Amino acid sequence: MGPQSRLKLASVLLAIASFCHLTLAAPTGTASAAAPSSLLGYNPANAVKNENTDDIPYSLVPSQTDSVVIGAFLDFNNVQNPQPIRGSKGGTDPGPRTEEYDILNPDKLAPPGTDHGDVSNAQWPMGLSHMKLGLNGAGWSRQQNIDNIPVATEMAGVDMRLEEGAYRELHWHKASEWSYVLNGSVRVEAVNEEGQTFVDDLSAGDVWFFPPGVPHSLQGLKGGVEFLLVFDDGSFSEDNTFLASEVFAHNPKEILSKNFDLPLSAWDNIPPGELFIFPGTKAPTDISAQNIVGSAGLVPTESSYTYHLSAKANDHETAGGTVKVIDPTIFPIASKFSAAVVTVKPGALREIHWHTTSDEWNFFIGGSARIGVYAAQGNARTFDYHAGDTGYIPKAMTHYVENVGKDDVIFIEVLQADHFSDVSVGQWVGLTPPQIVMDTLNLTNTTVSQFKKEKQYIVPGAVVA
Ligand SMILES: *[C@@H]1O[C@H](CO)[C@@H](O)[C@H](O)[C@H]1NC(C)=O
Ligand SMILES: *[C@@H]1O[C@H](CO)[C@@H](O)[C@H](O)[C@H]1NC(C)=O
Ligand SMILES: *[C@@H]1O[C@H](CO)[C@@H](O)[C@H](O)[C@H]1NC(C)=O
Repeated sequence: MGPQSRLKLASVLLAIASFCHLTLAAPTGTASAAAPSSLLGYNPANAVKNENTDDIPYSLVPSQTDSVVIGAFLDFNNVQNPQPIRGSKGGTDPGPRTEEYDILNPDKLAPPGTDHGDVSNAQWPMGLSHMKLGLNGAGWSRQQNIDNIPVATEMAGVDMRLEEGAYRELHWHKASEWSYVLNGSVRVEAVNEEGQTFVDDLSAGDVWFFPPGVPHSLQGLKGGVEFLLVFDDGSFSEDNTFLASEVFAHNPKEILSKNFDLPLSAWDNIPPGELFIFPGTKAPTDISAQNIVGSAGLVPTESSYTYHLSAKANDHETAGGTVKVIDPTIFPIASKFSAAVVTVKPGALREIHWHTTSDEWNFFIGGSARIGVYAAQGNARTFDYHAGDTGYIPKAMTHYVENVGKDDVIFIEVLQADHFSDVSVGQWVGLTPPQIVMDTLNLTNTTVSQFKKEKQYIVPGAVVA
């Protein structure tokens, strides 16, 4: 017998042995040799291994030893073995762990002492979303909805890529769709229920909107496109849209022929099911070649489905950054979508504020930020964000956005409101009679007299060391 066959024989015997063991041991319930009864609970024969998990090497960032309520951002990049320690609180983590999570989310690892209680999750990185891949290298999409941020009931988002010439196929849905072009350029096309038609080209920083049920298509122009879609329904799913391919695939060909007054053979080569994202012939450079007009004409300008936001001036420019607003006062068709594109310079802070009637959906285009949410009942929590992350702040909860990196933070705030507005905590206390504020917060007259009476939007600040 060679070593190979001896090995085989051994494993066969082992298999038989374990089979017998199972069939014999199970009915009687007696302990097996492999699992002596002495392992259950206390027995002086059971030895404990004293591994030293206390004496691990690590270093703290300077502000980690501050009093917990100071709560400065902790930059764990280039720190040896970052630890869940803040002031006098916390302790070391010997592992198991994945340090990359801790570096990306320092406010989860070592929260500011002002965090308290339970606050619903307010963050989802698109990088953790499942990609739906388009056909033949045409693109992809991924989404954030109520499945990954359970409190996000009012809005959901999709990040989508179309290569040059690729389509997001003709479709419609029950929710309203508001979109911001992130990169590249795109042709958008729609026909409404009046038979009015619409076609336009957009590039990075521009916005489109389609009302519920209005069928539309999107095609990547030269160089392709990536865009963000925001829907006014937290349970929206990209897998639940009405598709041109499916309307034709799921109506009997006899019905199609009657409907269009065409022979059955007209439908010989239609796609058997969804296309979703697929490659197409490149869009003609001259957009007028796709200006199809019926008796109802074009969608009137005041109801246009696009807004060339990239060419609009900022609404607020401060030493800390800029705010550019788009809402129904300038883009009437999107009657419930009010949004701001906000740039926060390194070290600066989008001031503490809340929105009176709407939840806020966020997307981070660039930079690194943290948002602190105060949610009533003494509850507060801090979340960290990076490019490609989504955020969600329920209405009335205060929040700030602090740039904690070395690059500009660029992010979008989207509300369900007829105009973009917020309550600034600074302006509120600045316009309240000082006596009331001093009595309430036990502040000195000197402090209260320096409160500003105007919104600051973005306050400049020192860059994190
Ligand atoms: C757009 O894409 C180009 C090519 O990948 C990239 O260099 C650029 O940084 C992107 N722009 C943004 C805003 O991400
Ligand atoms: C207000 O602050 C002073 C110190 O400036 C302190 O002595 C006092 O106890 C505080 N009052 C309350 C009600 O906390
Ligand atoms: C607070 O300061 C303002 C201006 O400095 C002064 O006019 C006012 O009398 C002070 N009030 C109190 C209660 O000290």
